[in-house]
Amino acid sequence: MLASAVGMDKATMKAVFRAHGLPVVDYEVVMRHEWRNDPETVVRRLAETIGVPCFVKPSNLGSSVGISKATTATDLPAALDEAARHDRKILVERAVNAREIEVSVLGNDDPIASLPGEIVYGADWYDYATKYTEGEAQVVVPAPISPEATERIRALAVAAFRAIDCAGMARVDFFLEGDRPIVNEINTIPGFTSTSGYARMWEATGLSYRELIARLIDLALERHRERGAG
Ligand SMILES: Nc1ncnc2c1ncn2[C@@H]1O[C@H](COP(=O)(O)OP(=O)(O)OP(=O)(O)O)[C@@H](O)[C@H]1O
Ligand SMILES: [Mg+2]
Repeated sequence: MLASAVGMDKATMKAVFRAHGLPVVDYEVVMRHEWRNDPETVVRRLAETIGVPCFVKPSNLGSSVGISKATTATDLPAALDEAARHDRKILVERAVNAREIEVSVLGNDDPIASLPGEIVYGADWYDYATKYTEGEAQVVVPAPISPEATERIRALAVAAFRAIDCAGMARVDFFLEGDRPIVNEINTIPGFTSTSGYARMWEATGLSYRELIARLIDLALERHRERGAG
């Protein structure tokens, strides 16, 4: 529960990742009341710290809802208003020009990472319509990236899983900016059909959907037994 709660709140998640030395994109947290009470100060602070282009997000949401990209400073107020409609905590991040890579992690105390996949789409960014319109985005598994980037991303995915003390499963999403991986987020309840990225990445790593489900049941039983062990 704690891991999922941390993973759901992007501001808390990034603070925990940063404290564990994981690479995260530069960001600022803006509280809705600050934005409504003193917009000039907020705009000035963001210009000095993050600049444009930037991504503006509600801290607690998903599926790209409430997120916008501010390409110029004039886009910023509308972007902050939109995020503030959804949450009292807003995240403003430097926009990276990067490929989007994801990795499946499985385990309790000794988590392992799958081969990565790459999300490929034609849109400017992975917004709601691109995510949920059939045919707009594909997950290419394994991701066609260098062996060095693959190994670095797998190690970082396990480190992110450990940083929030996760158990069972999670999908860790990355930006690959040039050859530098940046952790974007962890999803502790990733999409889980046999054709979802999570299962397909395990399939490519040699673990079938049936085996994956059996493994998850074993891990849940193991965690349950441990809880009683005291
Ligand atoms: N700092 C950034 N730079 C460039 N693109 C970004 C940045 N932040 C977000 N994006 C784009 O917006 C998309 C959605 O952002 P993010 O993954 O942070 O939130 P979410 O998708 O709403 O969360 P979830 O994946 O849990 O549904 C990303 O996949 C990416 O395409
Ligand atoms: Mg996302």
